[in-house]
Amino acid sequence: MSKVLLLNGSHKSGKSYTMIIAEQFASGLIEYNPETVIETVDLIQQNINACTGCHACWTTTPGECIFQDDMTELFHQYEDADIVIWATPLYHYGISSAMKKFMERTQPALLPFIDNEGGGTYGHPFRNPEKMLTKKHVLISTCGFPSTKNNYEGVEEQFNNLFGKDKWEKIICVEGELLGIHQLDNLTGPYLDLVKIAGQEYGENLSISPKIREGLSKPFVETPTYLQTTNLSWGVDDTRMKDSDGGLIAWNYMKEVQAAFNPKVRPKMNAVLQIDFTDIKERYQFVIKDETCTLLRNDFARETTTININLTTLERILEGKIDAAQSLMERKYSVVGDMRLFNAFLDGLFGPVNLNPDKKKRLVPISFKNTPYWFFLALCPWVFCFLFADYNPLIGVVIPLMISGILCGIKRGTDLVYFERATLLTFSLLGLVVVTFGSEYQGNTFAIIGYFALALIWAISTLKTVPLTADYTHYFNGRNALKNVLFLRTNRLLCYVWSLVFLAQAGLALWLNTTVMINFAAVLPILLSIPTFVFSLWFLKWHPSDMAKPK
Ligand SMILES: Cc1cc2nc3c(=O)[nH]c(=O)nc-3n(C[C@H](O)[C@H](O)[C@H](O)COP(=O)(O)O)c2cc1C
Repeated sequence: MSKVLLLNGSHKSGKSYTMIIAEQFASGLIEYNPETVIETVDLIQQNINACTGCHACWTTTPGECIFQDDMTELFHQYEDADIVIWATPLYHYGISSAMKKFMERTQPALLPFIDNEGGGTYGHPFRNPEKMLTKKHVLISTCGFPSTKNNYEGVEEQFNNLFGKDKWEKIICVEGELLGIHQLDNLTGPYLDLVKIAGQEYGENLSISPKIREGLSKPFVETPTYLQTTNLSWGVDDTRMKDSDGGLIAWNYMKEVQAAFNPKVRPKMNAVLQIDFTDIKERYQFVIKDETCTLLRNDFARETTTININLTTLERILEGKIDAAQSLMERKYSVVGDMRLFNAFLDGLFGPVNLNPDKKKRLVPISFKNTPYWFFLALCPWVFCFLFADYNPLIGVVIPLMISGILCGIKRGTDLVYFERATLLTFSLLGLVVVTFGSEYQGNTFAIIGYFALALIWAISTLKTVPLTADYTHYFNGRNALKNVLFLRTNRLLCYVWSLVFLAQAGLALWLNTTVMINFAAVLPILLSIPTFVFSLWFLKWHPSDMAKPK
């Protein structure tokens, strides 16, 4: 049988977050060994006088305190326990005062002599070393900050001095406040499961395995999210942001952002970027005119684009810690107004912004070969095929192959994009068929194959990081467009649509081929492209704005 003394040092008694963890740990101990006896003591409810330092416990009544209060009994429990669980919230970088009072009253366990423990360290020997030296100690603590750094060093040093370096076990739970939010049970639940396993392990080995320890040292949520949630949860305005003494966090930060303004990103742009901070309810504007940027906090101008964001998210974006486009899609912030200004922001108008950090996409030089106009040239072989394959299958395949070859020859190398390569490949294959099997086909065959090929080419491109249309439309969206997941998604959706339209065109051509309209079977379906093209122009603008606006 193992005797465990569980000391609840929280001043919140039964409402303690720390005790949620401590009790879970205790249940793990019991699960491992049902014989385990747990004695829980709610320290704040006990009548424990503060040690007065009279030293009677060392001199006149050795081993006994002059106070006859609840500590008299507790001290015996402490002496007899095999395992002591010190469950305390972190208060001012230390243990709680209730726990400290208890700790100080264990002074009778020591002898008055000061021993030289070597290495320039000293300590009092135990009065009952056989009881005290075999005792095991576990610190269980929660705190409000999201990190142990510059937070727990004091407590850890204290425990090292009291119980020996690395001779005690610990569970330190940062972001402890979240244990009280039931909506977050899905985050805290798995942590508590780990605590229970830690209890079982401790029951078995008197230690917690490195794997479980690592799991227990992780915060529940990312720090910015935590700060945002807890800072707002107080329901109190952060008045520091409202003062006008110049020493303001948001204002100073905005000045830093202004200092990073880089007019070279959009040399001729005149616009007003408005930042509405959703957490601190502050508004700032960057007025960009004649390659200079003015920061406003009142007397606002008419905004071109508004970014609704909280301070932490903006900081993390501009520090390059999170993907700006990805976070937008995840609705961590929203954008309203002209997306061109936002694209300039993504291109580094206020300093470099991180986009798609794990996929290294090359920046495409802006030249005619990479403009959307080139796309129409790339379509020429297809149109030629649809127009002339019926008239002469050989011409309807060979001429497009030549056009495609010439276009690819002009572009060459890395400038060549997927659609151009796929076009060349398709007409090469069709050319091979014509050369091998002759050109005695029913005229529309190649046109119908062409529509199917287009549908396939566009469908396959949706599987690529950069879908087909993005190779051309990026021209309108700035140099970082191909790293912008929102832009890529817009184009991916567009490619789906076009793929379906090409499929419909293939079906239409097939059907017309069986009717009196057979002579128009290859050409007529092209008309479907006109409304789809108009739709595309609209969709390329609408979809990013729709995704970016507040929901
Ligand atoms: C007086 C006081 C001081 C605190 N000091 C710290 C601190 O130094 N560092 C920290 O991260 N959290 C600090 N906190 C937050 C608590 O450690 C945190 O809320 C803890 O989860 C409360 O645990 P409990 O519910 O078991 O009492 C402090 C809270 C109070 C009330």
